Amino acid sequence: MSSYKILEKNSTSALLNVEDYHQQAKEKLDKMIYDFYSTGSDDQLTLIDNQESFQRIKLRPKVLIDVSSHQRENSLNCQTQLLQSTATISFPCIIAPTALHRLAHREYGELATVRAAVACSTIMCVSTAASTCMELIAEEYQQQIKTNYPQSTSQLWFQLYVLKSRPCTKKLIQRAEKSGYKALVLTVDLCVVGNRECDVRNQFSLPNGIQAENMIDDETNDFAKDYNVPSEDEALSWKDLDWIQSITSLPLILKGIIHPDDVRKALKYSVQGIIVSNHGGRQLDTCLSTIDALPYIIDTIRTENQQIDVYVDGGIRRGTDILKALALGAKAVLIGRPILWGLAVDGEQGVKKVLDLLKKEFRLAMMLCGCQTIDDIRKNNLLIMNYTSKL
Ligand SMILES: Cc1cc2nc3c(=O)[nH]c(=O)nc-3n(C[C@H](O)[C@H](O)[C@H](O)COP(=O)(O)O)c2cc1C
Repeated sequence: MSSYKILEKNSTSALLNVEDYHQQAKEKLDKMIYDFYSTGSDDQLTLIDNQESFQRIKLRPKVLIDVSSHQRENSLNCQTQLLQSTATISFPCIIAPTALHRLAHREYGELATVRAAVACSTIMCVSTAASTCMELIAEEYQQQIKTNYPQSTSQLWFQLYVLKSRPCTKKLIQRAEKSGYKALVLTVDLCVVGNRECDVRNQFSLPNGIQAENMIDDETNDFAKDYNVPSEDEALSWKDLDWIQSITSLPLILKGIIHPDDVRKALKYSVQGIIVSNHGGRQLDTCLSTIDALPYIIDTIRTENQQIDVYVDGGIRRGTDILKALALGAKAVLIGRPILWGLAVDGEQGVKKVLDLLKKEFRLAMMLCGCQTIDDIRKNNLLIMNYTSKL
């Protein structure tokens, strides 16, 4: 974290990077909400390690490669194809599913986030625990494409928590499919909720008028109305993937995989993607950081002679972090908290700015590493892992 301390000392009022947005959001948000967003479980070691592991990986750039043409705006193509080319994003960075965006931006919440996703031609993965119901988010998405960004290649994905009630879970999936979501992201690392002590200390509760809207069902009244009441199914297991796949034709992506054995199992179930994730350090503390887990996952898939999309999230705060993830074999990264900081600071514009900053940093990192294409990032042998020597 020392690098951030240096940045803090030098900081001006300009918001130049994700950490600047973080600091500004911290000032703006109520402590209970800031803590809910920013903290992790137990001693928060995984939360810290997610970021620090990126800092331990060093870049070894290639030089004397003509990048003059890429200096011009948009000439360095960062477009990335996902899910067997059924999705294209403007650069390899996706909005991770995070709960309750209206805690950061009371008026628009997820509606502000989706506008920014469309403007930036990226994917927004909407949480089951969103504070705006999924149909309204989908309507806003369609509206933005129609009126403001007809060229946008943005997509919506739906993140699924399997609830104790299977009929309610089935309904969630059907609603997502009907409203035009293009993939189902099944979160598999939350069989029970991690020990988030800050939320306990703060006696976290939802302000009036904000709730997990998708989890409320007027007909059955079966869903959890209160975010503090766990409604996810602790009994969720591999066999449930068959059930999920039998009721939807959406591509299935598993989020929360860390162990190579689980990758082998996932391949047997023919999932279309895996997100290497530890829930941003909010579940099992001392879990391996995600960027350290990624090479094992990639190796396993290679050994099994398979090709599926692998994504990674956790601790990505700089364009160089995105480049490192891609160099290790990820198709794209997801970002969670940086989006919430942007949203808290300046709504739609704040989220857009955070995405733009990361894209700008990523392009710069590519050029400084001598990469002319996204493929070069993988081919150029740019990384030294776990470099520990004190310079
Ligand atoms: C406040 C907060 C809420 C989250 N809610 C969800 C959620 O509803 N579903 C889910 O699958 N992951 C959720 N996550 C995890 C994120 O999808 C993602 O894995 C994590 O934030 C990535 O780490 P980062 O915040 O360091 O980018 C949440 C994370 C945070 C910080």
